[in-house]
Amino acid sequence: MSTFSKKHLLGIKDITSDDIELVFETADNFKAIINRPIKKVPSLRDITVANIFFENSTRTRISFELAQKRLSADIVNFSASSSSVSKGETLIDTVNNILAMKVDMVVMRHPAPGACVFLSQHIGANIINAGDGTHEHPTQALLDAFSIREKLGSVRGKKVAIVGDITHSRVALSNIYALKKLGAEVMVCGPTTLIPKYISSLGVKVEHDLMKALNWCDVANMLRIQLERQDIKYFPSLREYSMLYGLNKERLDKLDKEIVIMHPGPINRGVEITSDVADSKHSIILNQVENGVAVRMAIMFLLAGRG
Ligand code: NCD
Repeated sequence: MSTFSKKHLLGIKDITSDDIELVFETADNFKAIINRPIKKVPSLRDITVANIFFENSTRTRISFELAQKRLSADIVNFSASSSSVSKGETLIDTVNNILAMKVDMVVMRHPAPGACVFLSQHIGANIINAGDGTHEHPTQALLDAFSIREKLGSVRGKKVAIVGDITHSRVALSNIYALKKLGAEVMVCGPTTLIPKYISSLGVKVEHDLMKALNWCDVANMLRIQLERQDIKYFPSLREYSMLYGLNKERLDKLDKEIVIMHPGPINRGVEITSDVADSKHSIILNQVENGVAVRMAIMFLLAGRG
């Protein structure tokens, strides 16, 4: 049986397409389990996981926690606002203290790109990156690709448009790596100011006209404008942004085909996507959330060496 090639999940950039396929096959089994009346399995019994969140999170934190509970792991939760970090403690001291309590795995979200890499160089536990600033969000990309595979049968050869704030989005970068490794074609779409200058070196197409992107793609992944990570004004107003880049029913009706709509959440209804589209039959937004639990179970199971 094949095994995961890394000790940590720091980013999609470091893993192989075989790793991703292994996560998908493992997640298929866990998805079947979490749809059974008895959802809990003993696979991570005796493994202690610390969830360390230095940034706000609802869905990712709950999804990891639920995945850990379904696998019977022991859990400690830590969030920066209620901890000694606000008293001036460094990242390494915080984590060493937690590890002294014999933690086997750390799931961390941190505003600094590379924070998980730093951690992995200093401590022995398995590290999972739950989002490091504007850099990577690997479990989100895995659950997104898993959801495309589930909806369309495979990822290979599919055309995926990622629309919105590509510059500040860790979801965008991890999705680009995952989709390219799985053989999809990828396009990014948004205003020039929100698309990094060298993005095409990653082998993606760049488009500034939303209708052209929608006409090209099989799947549109709509991203939130990451206002909290923007240091300057990148466009005149949210109203203008949504006029040019918001996905609404009129735009979808103009297409001569049906496309799949995705969003990692949290949605800003009326900005990047209207309610009628977010809640329509084309949207797989809630499937993404459901798949997130199975995919995170798979990752933790494989990293714990129980695969
Ligand atoms: C994303 C994130 O935190 O990067 N959300 C998530 O993990 N579900 C996307 C976002 O905040 O827009």
